[in-house]
Amino acid sequence: MKNMLVTGGCGFIGTNFIRYLLEESDFEGRVINVDALTYAGNPFNLEDMEQRFSDRYTFMHADIRNRGDMSRIFNDYEIDTVCHFAAESHVDRSISGPDAFIQTNIVGTFNLLELAREGRDRLELFHQISTDEVFGSLGRDGAFTEDTPYRPNSPYSASKAASDHLVRAYHKTYDLPVTISNCSNNYGPYQFPEKLIPLMILNALEGRPLPVYGDGLHVRDWLYVRDHCTAVWAIMKQGKRGMTYNVGGASEMENIRIVEMVCDMVDELAASRLDNPRRGLIGFVKDRPGHDRRYAIDFTRLKGELGWTPEESLESGMRKTVSWYLDNREWVDRVRSGEYRSWIRKQYGEEV
Ligand code: NAD
Ligand code: TYD
Repeated sequence: MKNMLVTGGCGFIGTNFIRYLLEESDFEGRVINVDALTYAGNPFNLEDMEQRFSDRYTFMHADIRNRGDMSRIFNDYEIDTVCHFAAESHVDRSISGPDAFIQTNIVGTFNLLELAREGRDRLELFHQISTDEVFGSLGRDGAFTEDTPYRPNSPYSASKAASDHLVRAYHKTYDLPVTISNCSNNYGPYQFPEKLIPLMILNALEGRPLPVYGDGLHVRDWLYVRDHCTAVWAIMKQGKRGMTYNVGGASEMENIRIVEMVCDMVDELAASRLDNPRRGLIGFVKDRPGHDRRYAIDFTRLKGELGWTPEESLESGMRKTVSWYLDNREWVDRVRSGEYRSWIRKQYGEEV
């Protein structure tokens, strides 16, 4: 693996993955980060990487929906490895506007697979980042395994399921060397504050309402983002080609408990005190349509075959996450003020 294309590297998990690869892992090659810089992509996330690793890190502003642009990148940089994060990723947005999810998540992935197939002689691995949401919803008991049938319930999860099927089919039909990982809900530094945990941290900090959907008893299996990154790299290096691996945090929790945890940690760690405990800001709001009740991941295969387990507990990971948002006000202010959007427009033109 000499020239790795990472798609969506300016988003939450892609940013953490590129940082992990360059700063901590034993990867010695070059990273080419391709990102279209949608509302979720933040070019400032990796500003320091461009300086510190100028010979091993390149950013390319491009859209995976554009086959021509992507083809040039594959050829110019002699891409031999792909780690594919780029996606529209927010369930609520997929409900109000599914179009972009179909175009980016399905057609974009198809484009990359076709280019990988064209460069088959050079290609060592195409790794697809997917989600546990493709499996649908669980009852009270049990956990998703790699053999659980796909039953996606939202336009987001349906588009991810479709792209996973394409990746699998390219392995079966064209013998493309692929791996797929299906992981649970990530949290940690650099997550855009539309997702539950960063939204609640920032609203709690600012004394704003904390909207919990439905009865708040929906369960997610929380995975600290660095643990996800170590899992992906382990799979890329040692995973069996054509194989799928589940990645989970062993941290199932009801949403309401997560929000209470956030409130208590912000009460404890924030310099700005409120008169009353922040739990008082919690309110129950109308439920999300098609809201999956429970996700839980069985990662026996990853543990057994590759010896991977998550390092962070929910308590330790949440503490790191809350502290990161408190310590990185400049990042938060930029994201909230839209300062980076106007920077992107200046840099790349009005159409972005
Ligand atoms: P994100 O929304 O934070 O980032 C997505 C990135 O993709 C952004 O930088 C965006 O600019 C870029 N992008 C979007 N459309 C693009 C296009 N057409 N061309 C090029 N770049 C484009 O998402 P995330 O939370 O970092 O998720 C990354 C991947 O992990 C996604 O594939 C997602 O489905 C998967 N995943 C996420 C979670 C989670 O909890 N966040 C859980 C399981 C799986
Ligand atoms: P989210 O972070 O959007 O991830 P996903 O939908 O991919 O699991 O939501 C996590 C859980 O939190 C989900 O059950 C929906 C719930 N939720 C709220 O209760 N309130 C909110 O404001 C948000 C954004 C999510």
